Amino acid sequence: MAAKLDPIVEFREDHRKVRDGLLALASAAETGDLPQARKSLGEIDALTGPHFRYEEEALYPALKEYLGEYVDRLVEEHDGAIGTARTAAGLLAKPSLTRDEGKAAASAARALLVHVSNCDGLNILAERFSQQKLDQLAQQFEKARQANVPLLQWAGTIRERKA
Ligand SMILES: [Fe+2]
Repeated sequence: MAAKLDPIVEFREDHRKVRDGLLALASAAETGDLPQARKSLGEIDALTGPHFRYEEEALYPALKEYLGEYVDRLVEEHDGAIGTARTAAGLLAKPSLTRDEGKAAASAARALLVHVSNCDGLNILAERFSQQKLDQLAQQFEKARQANVPLLQWAGTIRERKA
């Protein structure tokens, strides 16, 4: 049976949404718009949970074919991204933000933006996968989306590796 989802297209589509969310988060944090910043962070948390999970459970192991041990570095980068997301969430949970806290939340968002652009580059490798592998990845991507666990919840519970 043909897969419903195109893992290469959906992967990039996620990155576009996360990119836009992070840019919105950064500018809301800088201007002190706490409700908007929290809304953007919530959207990013929801989107990146299944995305990171798919990457670690399916895409990265598959990329070992091309990248070898370098995939371990990708997982380490996720540790960093999760830590940064926690920092941002911690700041935005405060009842109000000082100017410096707003700046700190904005720079956390911009740091995560670099992960998005790096991660999107993996698609150039994913294009080399066989159709069979792509079908398998499509199913795993769909499974991660159906489970629908937000990033920080996943990182604190299901993810075996603790960041
Ligand atoms: Fe990604």
